[in-house]
Amino acid sequence: MKIGIGNDHSALEMKAEIIEYLEQRGHEVIDYGTNSSESCDYPHYGEIVGRAVADKKVDQGILICGTGLGISLAANKVKGVRAAVCSEPFTARMARMHNNCNILAFGSRVIGVELAKMIVEVWLDTEFELGGRHQRRVDMLDAIEERWNQGSCV
Ligand code: RB5
Repeated sequence: MKIGIGNDHSALEMKAEIIEYLEQRGHEVIDYGTNSSESCDYPHYGEIVGRAVADKKVDQGILICGTGLGISLAANKVKGVRAAVCSEPFTARMARMHNNCNILAFGSRVIGVELAKMIVEVWLDTEFELGGRHQRRVDMLDAIEERWNQGSCV
């Protein structure tokens, strides 16, 4: 799988370990930064990875900031992105299976790296349950996005 990864300054070490973990498992990783420990703005990296996912340059995205929140909020502003903050494997599994999420986010200041790897593994091993009620609900999410893009949310 081709995976785009992005982070802010809080997550440099964790990102490096996650990249190594992914590559050891045969995934191709595109690192969208940051690779500096200087304080930076997470919306920038959330948007870049969000765009890469939406444009299908990568199959899945992983985003890490202090909490996973800011960077996932940024990614979720990109049309077609469904980013979920997961701090344990159950939510990660459900986010893929029921919500067809395409970006996994977590917090370098919230979870340890071994738990993060476990969450990543579950995420990548879980497929969306095609068809039925979950597809309908994801289609409803897309419809909300469409209505707002057209400037009329009624
Ligand atoms: C940076 O200090 C911190 O605010 C950021 O990493 C993240 O937690 C934001 O949601």
